[in-house]
Amino acid sequence: MNHRLLTCAFALTSALASMAQTHVMDVNTKKAGATVQNTMYGLFFEDINYAADGGLYGELVKNRSFEFPQAFMGWQTFGNITLKDDGPFERCPHYVSLAWAGHTERRTGLVNEGYFGIGVLKGEEYRFTVWARAPKGTARIRVQLIDANTMGERQDFATAKVDVKGTEWKKYEVRIKSPRTDNKASLRIFLDGRNPIDLEHISLFPVNTFKNRENGMRRDLAQALADMHPGVLRFPGGCIVEGECLENRYQWKNTIGPVENRPLNRNRWEFTFEHRYFPDYFQSYGLGFFEFFQLSEDIGAEPLPVLNVGMACQYQNRNNEKAHVPVDQLDPYIQDCLDLIEFANGDTTTTWGKKRAEMGHPAPFNLKFIGVGNEQWGEFYFVRMQEFVDAIRAKHPEIKIIGTSGPDSEGENFNLGWEAMKKQKVDLVDEHFYRPESWFLTSGLRYEKYDRKGPKVFAGEYACHGKGKKWNHYETSLYEAAFMTDLERNADIVHMATYAPMLAHVEGWQWRPDLIWYDNVRMFKSVSYYVQQMYAMNKGTNVLTMTMQGQPIAGQEGQDGLFASAVIDKETGTVIVKVINTSKEKQPVSINLNGIKGERTAETITLTCTDMMAENTLDEPEKIVPQNGTLACTADKKNTVINDEIAPMTFRLYKVKK
Ligand code: AHR
Repeated sequence: MNHRLLTCAFALTSALASMAQTHVMDVNTKKAGATVQNTMYGLFFEDINYAADGGLYGELVKNRSFEFPQAFMGWQTFGNITLKDDGPFERCPHYVSLAWAGHTERRTGLVNEGYFGIGVLKGEEYRFTVWARAPKGTARIRVQLIDANTMGERQDFATAKVDVKGTEWKKYEVRIKSPRTDNKASLRIFLDGRNPIDLEHISLFPVNTFKNRENGMRRDLAQALADMHPGVLRFPGGCIVEGECLENRYQWKNTIGPVENRPLNRNRWEFTFEHRYFPDYFQSYGLGFFEFFQLSEDIGAEPLPVLNVGMACQYQNRNNEKAHVPVDQLDPYIQDCLDLIEFANGDTTTTWGKKRAEMGHPAPFNLKFIGVGNEQWGEFYFVRMQEFVDAIRAKHPEIKIIGTSGPDSEGENFNLGWEAMKKQKVDLVDEHFYRPESWFLTSGLRYEKYDRKGPKVFAGEYACHGKGKKWNHYETSLYEAAFMTDLERNADIVHMATYAPMLAHVEGWQWRPDLIWYDNVRMFKSVSYYVQQMYAMNKGTNVLTMTMQGQPIAGQEGQDGLFASAVIDKETGTVIVKVINTSKEKQPVSINLNGIKGERTAETITLTCTDMMAENTLDEPEKIVPQNGTLACTADKKNTVINDEIAPMTFRLYKVKK
């Protein structure tokens, strides 16, 4: 092709592109529609990927009470050390006795490796605590933060001494300031002198936890949760509620009271995937139900506990009825639900309300929702669930009950699940969908078809799982944003939605993608996090109807991959329009704000990227983040109009004051 021909071809292509059809959208701002529930966009916590111990929970010592089946897992011991099992805490009876190694230069002690190392930050203080006694009346230990790999003069970079007095068990505390940031330090304890000492529940915590709570959360991670402005916090998870067998199901009563006496549980994610096997994955329950309720309160989210329905994980146990609790033996499980409601809301004279008060929270937690069962399906579930529904309704008609439609996003089990939940008149049904790109791009009108008279929807676990590339890359997050327009347009029946899972340690994950990633000293928010945050912080109070050529906008035929929804925030008088362009072309849009007149300036928030495989990482945590801007809106005779051209593969949000 000669040069002139090429130039002509180029000019023609550009002209055609600039003539690309403008998508005219209408937003009716005059009539506020369904209320967007405060709970609409929330968080789902599960102890998977080292989300609790080794993640959100601030404890830095692994196996602090020597209760792991291999009692010294996580510890390296040296010298004259003995494991004993008649300690002061009934449900965690193990402890260690350290005695003189028999020669001045020989030492007795132990080193803890933490969770993939112990993370410490320069200038931060750490609270070392230990339960101890000195059989001879006095004894001393030296506590050190060490860098085992150091090439320098000394291994220890921070040291403290603890003097123990008395033959009775007592808690001792010393603070250690770290002069440096280290992702992989260890904690070493030396017996100092010849007198023996007994040690139990050896703990190291940052002083600077979220809200400065002593048994608190890692500050940066908890802050990221708060910054999402979640409306609800679902806990303690999905499959972990069930356990792979009933023995290791989550039992909330084991997770309250003094942390020293909370029995250890095997984490079912330890062995679920052979290709990501973590033999040291247990649940200390230091982050237990009291802490979950408190965290919900701290981050302004409604607490949503999910309890076991008398069934072990159905994946692992398929049609084995024996794996589950016989229907006539469900009473203790049902009682757990009733007691939990009392623990959260009962006054301080009730048995369980008193326990809450003793833990430092006399005021009720104001629990409104309870989930029963995780991903359950079929008759096994339906018969058991009915027993729970009857008992909860009879005693606590004020509590909203959430049932489940199983692990499938559609299909026979899903339909049967919904049918059964409708019959049982539960308030919400928990749906899960980890699905590929194609599902997210073709499910944009999912909830339009739902029965308005049945239970409400809780989209309790979802994420776009890229086909063959299951990690947090930009493209999948954009499709989540597109799909979420449907949640929003149908806020009359969709009352809650939580992306899943929430947390993942970069060295300890079993499942991805996840919302927030971290090592021991750093963290980053995935693009999916920012999508969730853009929705949660701009959820408005009421839905506005919005159409393109009279049709709901959900990337349908003729809509060139555009998805959109609109809400109004009645408190601030702001109209918020969200548009997602999932096509590889830029798309001109003209959005009529019916009911608003005159020229205005729209605030914009834009999430865009040209590399579909790009992701945020520990080294580049802010590679892809939303950008704030403004856009001048024009006015025609009738309305204020947003005229814009949305870049390919872009999520753009407009805010206009009424
Ligand atoms: O989020 C990970 C798992 O996915 C949940 O535990 C379970 O509910 C679902 O299968």
